[in-house]
Amino acid sequence: MLEQLESLSAAALAELETINSSDALREWESKYLGKKGSVIELVRSTGKLPAEERPAFGKRANEIKTKLEAAHADREKLIHDQELAQDLEGGEVDITLPGRPRQVGGLHPSTQTLRNFYSIWADMGFQVYRSRDVEDDLHNFELLNFPPHHPARDMQDTFYTTTPDVILRTHTSPGQIRAMQEFGEGGTQPIRVILPGMCYRFEQITARSEVQFHQVEGLAVGRNIRMSDLKGTIAAFARRMFGEAAKVRYRASYFPFTEPSMEVDVECFLCGGEGCRVCKYAGWLEIAGSGMVHPTVLRNGGYDPTQWSGFAFGMGPERITMLKHGIEDIRYFWSNDLRFLEQF
Ligand code: DAH
Repeated sequence: MLEQLESLSAAALAELETINSSDALREWESKYLGKKGSVIELVRSTGKLPAEERPAFGKRANEIKTKLEAAHADREKLIHDQELAQDLEGGEVDITLPGRPRQVGGLHPSTQTLRNFYSIWADMGFQVYRSRDVEDDLHNFELLNFPPHHPARDMQDTFYTTTPDVILRTHTSPGQIRAMQEFGEGGTQPIRVILPGMCYRFEQITARSEVQFHQVEGLAVGRNIRMSDLKGTIAAFARRMFGEAAKVRYRASYFPFTEPSMEVDVECFLCGGEGCRVCKYAGWLEIAGSGMVHPTVLRNGGYDPTQWSGFAFGMGPERITMLKHGIEDIRYFWSNDLRFLEQF
């Protein structure tokens, strides 16, 4: 039997040398090493030998099996390489064809700007407070010092719902009242928060205005907060957001919930103040509304305005993203066009 095994092995090895295709190799494998392969059958019949011959035979049989398996693996690699080379030369695989780029998801440009805001304001000690999207007239207008027939209410066209007194917030400012009421502990605790979120306005959709957009409101309330704190804080933000060299200027303005009020401009970072299409040749870009919290608003939040003061600001992340990337139409933001989104 041992002789039979040796000659079978020699035959198998010789045959292997002549094999040149994976199909033939597969046949060879099942013929000799498969479950019913001849080498395997011989090994299996070890039991028929006289007991004293079994160990030597078994040992040799294992060696032969291992050797055949190794020879098979070598041949397999050789054939694979040959076949690949043939494919490449024969043109079945065009190795000059560029690979297909993998689609990788990314963050929405507004999300990127928002996260940028969060980290800048967090470094200055502002906590993020998410106020509600659904508001009532009291918080959205009245407590912010818009009396019922105040002309400032015309500035914002509101989405009303079929439920009485349930509206979609037109700005993030009502969050100021909620933050003061929630964290002020009856007007005894200082506050530093930013209030990011979606706002809604019932407006004509144009390249410059959407019915929904983000705002990031800021509010600081304390014992000795002054206009200079507001200016310094905003300037520090602008330097982080637009670069160390960013210059800001403040223009007097009007909002019902701040007194005094001002708008914040940053020197156009595209033309460096020279004047270009993005800044409409003004050299400056408006980035925020702000001011000292109106005494009435402080009182509505539970604070005594003779003891406490504060500043507030409101910014539009989409607007800032548009300026930063020279995006000319706000409608791109929510139209979910991958050709737009993939650029960020
Ligand atoms: N709520 C204002 C708006 O939607 C933005 C704003 C201006 C917020 C001045 C403020 C502020 O906190 O102080 O147009």
